[in-house]
Amino acid sequence: MTSTDAHEAAQEAAKRNLWLHFTRMSAYEDSDVPVIVRGSGPYVFDQHGKKYLDGLSGLFVSQVGHGRTEIAEAGARQASELAYFPLWSYAHPKAIELAARLADLAPGDLNRVFFTTSGSEAVESAWKLAKQYFKLTGEPTRYKVISRELAYHGTSMGALAVTGLAAIKHDFEPLAPGGVRVPNTNFYRAPDFLAGDEEQFGEWAADEIERAILREGPESVAAVYLEPVQNSGGCFPPPPGYFQRVRDICDRYGVLMVSDEVICAFGRLGYYFGSERYDYQPDIITFAKGVTSGYAPLGGMMVSDRLMEPFTAGTATFLHGITFAGHPVSCAVALANLDIFEKEDLLENVRANEAAFRATLEKLYDLPIVGDVRGAGYFYGIEMVKDKVTRETFSDDESERLLRGFLSQALFDAGLVCRADDRGDPVIQLSPPLICGQEHFDEIERILREVLTEAWNRL
Ligand SMILES: Cc1ncc(COP(=O)(O)O)c(C=O)c1O
Repeated sequence: MTSTDAHEAAQEAAKRNLWLHFTRMSAYEDSDVPVIVRGSGPYVFDQHGKKYLDGLSGLFVSQVGHGRTEIAEAGARQASELAYFPLWSYAHPKAIELAARLADLAPGDLNRVFFTTSGSEAVESAWKLAKQYFKLTGEPTRYKVISRELAYHGTSMGALAVTGLAAIKHDFEPLAPGGVRVPNTNFYRAPDFLAGDEEQFGEWAADEIERAILREGPESVAAVYLEPVQNSGGCFPPPPGYFQRVRDICDRYGVLMVSDEVICAFGRLGYYFGSERYDYQPDIITFAKGVTSGYAPLGGMMVSDRLMEPFTAGTATFLHGITFAGHPVSCAVALANLDIFEKEDLLENVRANEAAFRATLEKLYDLPIVGDVRGAGYFYGIEMVKDKVTRETFSDDESERLLRGFLSQALFDAGLVCRADDRGDPVIQLSPPLICGQEHFDEIERILREVLTEAWNRL
């Protein structure tokens, strides 16, 4: 078979047998499915050998970059020694070692790790834990969860009920009951009466959580889910004081505070955990993605002894488990990944370079289409607008033409993997590997400038 034949056969099979996630399959009727075949550092390569800067770390995952043979070898060694054994009644050495290491890294008293295989499972596990915890501690009516508008917390039925993106929920209703929405911290789109005062905006947004708890009845609310920096909608950092105020509100009403750090943990914001950066103490942290940099799937939740306590005596059991959770290969890979974090001081790399990353992206403000550049660490969203002064956004039709019809493909063709997202107002999402530096920021800026200029000319 020639390489052209092999390429055509792969394309045919990709179109006939493979179902891509959150993808309009019709988009590939007349064009090739992009096939990424290998990666090296912050770059990936397609089936034709073309190189792309991975400006999204795959999907907010590849913290240490691609092609790290030491992680691959750690996984292979573990697979040879013990490929699989469940964490149901048994432990295995790498799960023990990883749990202890995560407990050392996590803020405050979060020292118990319940592993999962994914972020959605972590989010659902936290909800199930909250429900059962309250059943065991004499508050059996607490089951509702509060989360923020547009926030993405996963796609399985329970996690979807926590997710705040109406567009991806409707078709799957009825969902698990109990999901309650509150405003997010999009300061760029703050209500008029709060525009210009970020601190007051933060107080208002936190107090909206209190109002929701009171509206629903505190005795019915189990938990509040918040990302340190909300991804969906385009990177909303917390206003100053926001998390401290939410912590007080949760304490006042006995509601658990879940920090969903599936994206924000493991260096994305320059710290092992986003809650550390913003100086708040959650009751539960959910994580996934960067814990292994994607060399194997793993997620989990970390909880305090206080939450564990009702499960420690007699017949009490957390009635929940997942076959592949805490898979030995994934745990070995996570440990090797964390070794690289330490050896290469990746957290320091992010902290030392984040101002330069921001400054490089802010150069794009001279383009008429760039309305807001926001984020923290190596995690940024660029909101596109039709009018910078009025902040007018695009109509659905314009958004469709701009994002789906042009931008996504044009950015990829220009050699940048990032995400053009219109689940809220149209944004470009960036989340490069933590090994990146100025040369990569410049490459991102150059490509964005070229493609966004062209997008504006087409409007
Ligand atoms: C904050 C957050 N929570 C949960 C999830 C779900 O994770 P997974 O896709 O691993 O199920 C995601 C995925 O992007 C996420 O960003």
